[in-house]
Amino acid sequence: MALLQIKDLSVTFDSQDGPVHAVNNLSLSIDKGQTLGIVGESGSGKSQTAFSIMGLLAGNGRTSGSIKFDGQEILGASPKVLNSLRAKRIAMIFQDPMTSLNPYMKIADQMAEVLTLHQGMSKRDAVAECVRMLDAVKIPAAKERIRLYPHEFSGGMRQRVMIAMSLLCRPDLLIADEPTTALDVTVQAQIMDLLNDLQREFGMATVLITHDLGVVAGFCEKVLVMYGGRVMESAPTDPLFAQPTHPYTRGLLGAVPRVDDEDASMTAIPGNPPNMASPPSGCPFRPRCNYAGEDCYVMPPLADFAPGRARACHRPVEKVIA
Ligand SMILES: Nc1ncnc2c1ncn2[C@@H]1O[C@H](COP(=O)(O)OP(=O)(O)O)[C@@H](O)[C@H]1O
Ligand SMILES: [Mg+2]
Repeated sequence: MALLQIKDLSVTFDSQDGPVHAVNNLSLSIDKGQTLGIVGESGSGKSQTAFSIMGLLAGNGRTSGSIKFDGQEILGASPKVLNSLRAKRIAMIFQDPMTSLNPYMKIADQMAEVLTLHQGMSKRDAVAECVRMLDAVKIPAAKERIRLYPHEFSGGMRQRVMIAMSLLCRPDLLIADEPTTALDVTVQAQIMDLLNDLQREFGMATVLITHDLGVVAGFCEKVLVMYGGRVMESAPTDPLFAQPTHPYTRGLLGAVPRVDDEDASMTAIPGNPPNMASPPSGCPFRPRCNYAGEDCYVMPPLADFAPGRARACHRPVEKVIA
């Protein structure tokens, strides 16, 4: 049985401009210990998918479909059920750790609370365990620095604290939503290395959300490419990179800066993602797609085309990129 199984998830927000269909009929599954990347440009519906799992959608959001965690339906579950899952089995880290850390509490106090409240540990044992976890995320002099406030840490160090905090209860599932986007490039690489090591050490299933296809390459076993609230393609990572056939995926790959050639300029996909309050008809990528034709005014179904691979496209590009 999959650890997390999402079937036909749709998320709609009521807005002044009418309904915003942020996520449409998304399905995915993750087994214990598996790593899944969710990739797409800003506004694709990545975060709202994560918030649906966590039960953290904004008040104007409505959902349909099913999200099963360890066999239990959690879409629309009671706050009590969701709170206990969030504390013990599912953890999430966000782009900006400052929004999730309490600026008025010392790191020791806010970290220890996770263990005293949810695991019933004594404060003293809890702090000792927190220091061990800060060591694990390679914060130097953790024993002293745990007495500091969040603003006394750099951005990268704060993200390490968040990661340590998310792992305190040894979650079965970690959702990392753009965990390195707010950091500068060298620190980004360090945090991704760290997450990679921790994922192996702790063995938790991990959903890595990013707009950067390059980041998933070294981390995820499989990838879901999203655009305009829809799954455009899903595939194991290696074949996706070796033979990208969906025009959007190819566009994203073109937008990945090449590490081996610093001078090569990044070719971003021309144009911008759609306004989801008034998306284009048919395939949402149609207006930006070089391969689009009349048939693309009808949304293509997500269909299997190779082992483990599915895509939603009328006009896939089978040629291998030179
Ligand atoms: N509370 C809300 N009300 C209306 N629209 C929203 C709300 N939250 C998010 N959206 C819209 O949902 C779409 C998907 O957002 P999101 O999942 O956050 O994108 P991303 O892929 O960048 O994480 C966007 O078009 C966004 O504007
Ligand atoms: Mg987001």
